[in-house]
Amino acid sequence: VKDKELIRGSWESLGKNKVPHGVIMFSLFELDPALLSLFHYSTKCDSKQDCLSSPEFLDHVTKVMLVIDAAVSHLDDLHSLEEFLLNLGRKHQAVGVSTQSFTEVGESLLYMLQCSLGQAYTAPLRQAWLNMYSIVVAVMSRGWAK
Ligand code: HEM
Repeated sequence: VKDKELIRGSWESLGKNKVPHGVIMFSLFELDPALLSLFHYSTKCDSKQDCLSSPEFLDHVTKVMLVIDAAVSHLDDLHSLEEFLLNLGRKHQAVGVSTQSFTEVGESLLYMLQCSLGQAYTAPLRQAWLNMYSIVVAVMSRGWAK
């Protein structure tokens, strides 16, 4: 119960500014060039900076933040997201994203929380987020492997 309160409390303001926070999340994590190339789509990315500010990349940042938002609002019944997350894992398998990358995104999520929350970023809060994100990744990875 305490975990859920920590998560909800910290997400309240962050969740309202999904794109900027999501961008911090993705730009700080050491995107290796191979990963970045998955976001190219039709846009030509000549530099890492171009990629990070391309519309497709920003769209995806929003998508990731919306998944986290959904998990936060379904903390009491995360299993209701199971089908959605299995399917999401499967889609990433199809576009060539490894399950290891899901974990890296989790590390960036924690980093973003740390940057944004400052003093409010405590060990129990970190653990609460880690627990929730691990569940999300576990289901996505199961879908990936199917
Ligand atoms: C779709 C890449 C991690 C959520 C996609 C697509 C790509 C992609 C190429 C398809 C095109 C698009 O819709 O933009 C990646 C890479 C990741 C990553 C390279 C890790 C480095 C994640 C994570 C989440 C997520 C961790 C959620 C927690 C989504 C969603 C979609 C999507 C919601 C749309 C799926 C749909 O069309 O139904 N991702 N992704 N992605 N991704 Fe990711």
